[in-house]
Amino acid sequence: MANEAHFHLKISFLLVLCFTVTLETKSIQPKFLDETYTLSFGNYTGLNSEVVSEEIVITANKEIAVTITDVPLEANFLVVQTHSYIYNVSLSYLGEAKPLLGTNIGFVHVMTALHLPVFYVSNENAVNITVMVAVIGYSANVPVPGGCNMEFETKVAPYLHLTSTNSLISVESQPAMFKKCSEPYYITYEFYHMYQLESDFTQASYFKAISSMISPNDIRLNGRLVCCFLFLLILKA
Ligand SMILES: *[C@@H]1O[C@H](CO)[C@@H](O)[C@H](O)[C@H]1NC(C)=O
Ligand SMILES: *[C@@H]1O[C@H](CO)[C@@H](O)[C@H](O)[C@H]1NC(C)=O
Ligand SMILES: *[C@@H]1O[C@H](CO)[C@@H](O)[C@H](O)[C@H]1NC(C)=O
Repeated sequence: MANEAHFHLKISFLLVLCFTVTLETKSIQPKFLDETYTLSFGNYTGLNSEVVSEEIVITANKEIAVTITDVPLEANFLVVQTHSYIYNVSLSYLGEAKPLLGTNIGFVHVMTALHLPVFYVSNENAVNITVMVAVIGYSANVPVPGGCNMEFETKVAPYLHLTSTNSLISVESQPAMFKKCSEPYYITYEFYHMYQLESDFTQASYFKAISSMISPNDIRLNGRLVCCFLFLLILKA
């Protein structure tokens, strides 16, 4: 029962949709920056809902830089996520000491950070792969997903840890932060899931499904609500 409560408490609809994530254990390799890509909020219409994304082919054993520009002034933080099909990529960011490795991973960039929102995505596989990079900007009245992380490998942990057996899929997440971790706030967590068509293993369908589950609005529209939990977050400073 205690385990179950623990499990429930750890679900947030704001989390990056992540299936696999593990910490890169290798030492960081020298960077071979192939190219720099820019994702711009220039045409944005609304915070908290609009996703800026691009599918980028990264050649074998290469790294690219992704810079986020034209971020609206009202944005408090960005969630930047990368999705790849089958092959892992590693994502690194100046605000975090270590890169993440996985097929669905992401970081939070707080706009008050001293450094720019620049992210590095590297393909350490021997094949060219397509990576979908997606960014969403959130305003100050939105809790930072994984912002009160105490267990995962990164400072802020907006991603899920996923493990599965033949009969059970388990996800774990970290508590969100609203303003501060040291003061109590009521935060509602909603947990949605989505089925993909059986026996459709194409990359296009994979990216299409993920695209439809990135913003909270899209998740509510396209996902199936598992349940929701309201709880009082009280953490000691
Ligand atoms: C904004 O939209 C226009 C028209 O679709 C397009 O030409 C322009 O490149 C877009 N700007 C950005 C920054 O995406
Ligand atoms: C990977 O991409 C590079 C650069 O576009 C290209 O020269 C190479 O042929 C591609 N390799 C494969 C296996 O498609
Ligand atoms: C991706 O990374 C995870 C964790 O390191 C590993 O378990 C998995 O086998 C990797 N997948 C591939 C296709 O390399």
